[in-house]
Amino acid sequence: MSKKTIGIVVGSLRKASYNKSIANYIASLLPGEYEVKFIDISNVDMFNQDLEENPPESWIRLREEVKSSDAYLFFTPEYNRSVPAVLKNVLDVASRPYGQNVWAHKPAGIVSVSMGASGAFGANHHLRQTLTCLDVYPLQQPEAYIGNVMGLLDEKGNLVNEDTKNFLKSYVNAFTAWVEKF
Ligand code: FNR
Repeated sequence: MSKKTIGIVVGSLRKASYNKSIANYIASLLPGEYEVKFIDISNVDMFNQDLEENPPESWIRLREEVKSSDAYLFFTPEYNRSVPAVLKNVLDVASRPYGQNVWAHKPAGIVSVSMGASGAFGANHHLRQTLTCLDVYPLQQPEAYIGNVMGLLDEKGNLVNEDTKNFLKSYVNAFTAWVEKF
């Protein structure tokens, strides 16, 4: 049987992104029966419905990568209590043209990561709201809000906090069990 592909979407373009650090750690925990693919969202043209007649190469590539994923793991910072525009843009681009939403009918995990104490709760739930509209099935429990992240990483951005490592291991177990239900 072919491996299931987990498409990882990180909603930050920052080189030293904390979300990327946590995403890398989770990717390293995924069992070998999964193919892990980071979906590059850094150069996806802004959505403009007028471009749909002759879609940009970046849209075609993104839609293919989403389509070929069997499940998704989203990592999101919080920008002004919501998701960064760069993440919302790819959600919108791959949801169109109308009737060709390639995100649909697949399981997902949402991990929100912040320097603040709230663990990007607002972004996590705005993302959950959009995924509901896109007919994606996010894991409900456990929820993953990683707050005060700077204290959990070393100077190279590696996760060193043992409690968080253990929590993320249990999260991966729940996520893979969820993926296998589909
Ligand atoms: C932020 N940040 C932030 N943090 C938070 O907890 N709640 C918020 O509403 C916001 N709003 C916000 C807006 C904008 C425009 C920026 C640039 C930043 C801080 C944010 O969580 C922090 O920059 C993280 O480090 C971003 O994640 P990455 O890039 O490290 O993955």
